[in-house]
Amino acid sequence: MAKKMAAERAVEFVEDGMMVGLGTGSTAYWAIQRLGERVREGLKIQAVGTSERTEALAQAAQIPIVDFSRVAQLDVAIDGADEVSRDFALTKGGGGALLREKLVASAASRFIVIVDDTKLVRYLGKFPLPVEVVPFAWQLTKKRVEAAGCRSTLRMHEDQPFVTDNHNYILDCDFGEISDPASVHGYLKALPGVVETGLFINMAYVVVASDGQQVALHYP
Ligand code: 5RP
Repeated sequence: MAKKMAAERAVEFVEDGMMVGLGTGSTAYWAIQRLGERVREGLKIQAVGTSERTEALAQAAQIPIVDFSRVAQLDVAIDGADEVSRDFALTKGGGGALLREKLVASAASRFIVIVDDTKLVRYLGKFPLPVEVVPFAWQLTKKRVEAAGCRSTLRMHEDQPFVTDNHNYILDCDFGEISDPASVHGYLKALPGVVETGLFINMAYVVVASDGQQVALHYP
């Protein structure tokens, strides 16, 4: 399975004594499982999670979790992505964890993105861009977000707005092809009410992709 292969390759970057950021999603799941195996075999690491779900998975796998507020720097963070463009810009947040994911990735010396080859695209945009917004006046924020040139949908969960671990909402934004991710991110981030966007630009140090047969490494 391609996601599992990519995840297991990424875990080879983790060494004794490291502080590790753990991503969220079905690909990161495999990284957590493999890291858990290595910890049970004697690897000494500490980790921070990018979501409550991930923290629970890590604890179940016996990976020691520390509070992110106590950590100044991470050696490595391993996380999935929804899309990876040719210049290694990412769309993330399909699982709703983009804010913590960006905080963790920004604190990591090496941010390893694990994807199968279905996530590799020429331009971002097929996957709707998740934008985390505060619930207060979200309708107004939605209008302002749409003025950037997209159609957006409030993410729902069981007939209620989906609520992130940080108690915010998510707008899934269809921009079509995003040829200039930096300006889209800059415009959205400047809007009152927008907490974070799912665009991760110039952050991925290594992207591990897999076509199911072999694992390729990409260094931007
Ligand atoms: C969660 C994310 C995930 O990394 C992204 O959605 C990819 O998920 P998966 O590995 O399940 O395809 O950004 O917020």
